[in-house]
Amino acid sequence: MMDITNNKLDTALIDSTIDFVKQTLAHAEGGHDWWHVYRVWKLSKTIAHGENEANMLVVELGALLHDIADAKFHDGDETIGSKLASDFLKSKQVEKDIIDRVLNIIQNISFKNSFESSTTQSIELNIVQDADRLDAMGAIGVARTFNYGGFKNREIYNPNIKPETFLTKEAYKNSITPTINHFYEKLLLLKDKMTTSTGKQLAIQRHRFMETYLKEFFDEWNGKR
Ligand code: ADP
Ligand code: NI
Repeated sequence: MMDITNNKLDTALIDSTIDFVKQTLAHAEGGHDWWHVYRVWKLSKTIAHGENEANMLVVELGALLHDIADAKFHDGDETIGSKLASDFLKSKQVEKDIIDRVLNIIQNISFKNSFESSTTQSIELNIVQDADRLDAMGAIGVARTFNYGGFKNREIYNPNIKPETFLTKEAYKNSITPTINHFYEKLLLLKDKMTTSTGKQLAIQRHRFMETYLKEFFDEWNGKR
C-alpha cells in the first residue's frame, strides 16, 4: 500500500519535472534541448535495469534535470543549473536527501569536469553520466555535434587545423576548432569512460558507427569516392 502511494507521488513529481524541463529548455540549441533530455532519461532507465540498487527516483530526476542550465549557454556560470533544480525540487517538497543526490549528478556529470578527479561518484551518477555520454556518440552524436558546430558557426573541417589533446578543463572549454576535430578531442574517447555494464555494451556499436562515419567522411573529402 505504502509503495503504491509513493509510486503515485513519484509519477506526479516526474510529470511536473518534465513540464518544468520542457518550459525551461524551450529555446535551447537542438543538441541540448528537451529531446536530448528525453533520450538521456529513457536510456538511464534502460541502463539502470542492469545495475543493482540504484534509486530510480534519483536516476530519473537526475536525468531530467542534468542539463537544465548548461554553463556554456549561461556565460560559464556553473552554479545556475543546480540552483534552478534545487529551487524547483524544494517547491515540490522533495526530501533533502533526494535533492542532494540529484544535485550531485547535475554538478558532476559533465565531460569537462572529468579532467578533475571526483570523489562524488554514485551508482545514480554513473548511470546518468553513461546515458549522457552515449547520447554524444553514434548517429545521434554525429547529428548533435554538427548542430552545435553550426550553432557556433564553426568550419565543418579544416585539414590545416589538427585535433588537440586537451589536458585541462580550461583548454577544452576554450577550444574553437572545426567540428570534425571534436570527434578526436572528445567523442572517440567516451567508449573507455563508460562505468556501467550496459553503458559499456551500448558504447561499442555507437563507437564503431562513428569510426565508420569518419572513414567515409575523409574518403569523400579526399575525392576517393
Ligand atoms: P559536457 O556537458 O559533458 O561537457 P557538452 O555539452 O560539451 O558535454 O557536449 C555535448 C554535445 O554537444 C557534444 O557531444 C557535441 O555533440 C556537442 N558539442 C559540445 N562542444 C562541441 C564542440 N566544441 N564542437 C562540436 N560539438 C560540440
Ligand atoms: Ni546532457
